[in-house]
Amino acid sequence: MTTLPTATIPVIAIDGPTASGKGTVAQRVATALGFHYLDSGALYRLTALAALKQGVDLNDENRVAEVARSLNLQFFADKVILDGEDVSEQIRTESASQNASRVAAFPTVRSALTERQRAFRVAPGLVCDGRDMASVIFPDAQLKIFLTASVEARAERRTNQLKQKGNSAILADVVKELRTRDERDSNRQVAPLRKLDDAYLLDTTEISADSAVEQVLDWAKDTIQSL
Ligand code: C5P
Repeated sequence: MTTLPTATIPVIAIDGPTASGKGTVAQRVATALGFHYLDSGALYRLTALAALKQGVDLNDENRVAEVARSLNLQFFADKVILDGEDVSEQIRTESASQNASRVAAFPTVRSALTERQRAFRVAPGLVCDGRDMASVIFPDAQLKIFLTASVEARAERRTNQLKQKGNSAILADVVKELRTRDERDSNRQVAPLRKLDDAYLLDTTEISADSAVEQVLDWAKDTIQSL
């Protein structure tokens, strides 16, 4: 078996704000191409959850970074296991989202997770989503996309998702929570969320997930030679 040099393994990096739909689009593109998928936000969510389970104060950067370095994880298609426990639901709550965004602002936590993310670059290719996939983790990604939508559209989608899962959700509260997280993610010192000059802009306010997936696949065929 021949192994490709890692830098030649194609990466599609999809960054964007909270609830823009990047996770859904990234997963569907990965399935369509037969590529691997990395949900980088899950690593920050898992770090915050693991820290809380170990009684670590989320303000203690060094101890949270230590937790990030020693995360004991197993990923499956539909679940994630932390220290032998299925925590798939626990990492998706609103407080888990806010805690993830808090620990993600610490530089040492981010560097503790860098190599773990790069290890997902495995043939035949990777689709990843997050905030700094194109700027920091895979700056040589063959295709970079900044996927966004208006705050109203994002809040509406998130509210519907929460309701479908049987949770109560008030649109005005969801808008407030999205804004808090967007602001923290965009204004932090390290790896702030931003659109790079060489990233394609994909605004999904007015288009369906199907159209967004189609657009990404079109760009992928234009930019990735092996497709
Ligand atoms: O994408 P998701 O909403 O799951 O991310 C949770 C939090 O993790 C984000 O609000 C952000 O603060 C952080 N994050 C990050 N860098 C990434 C992915 C997520 O800082 N690449």
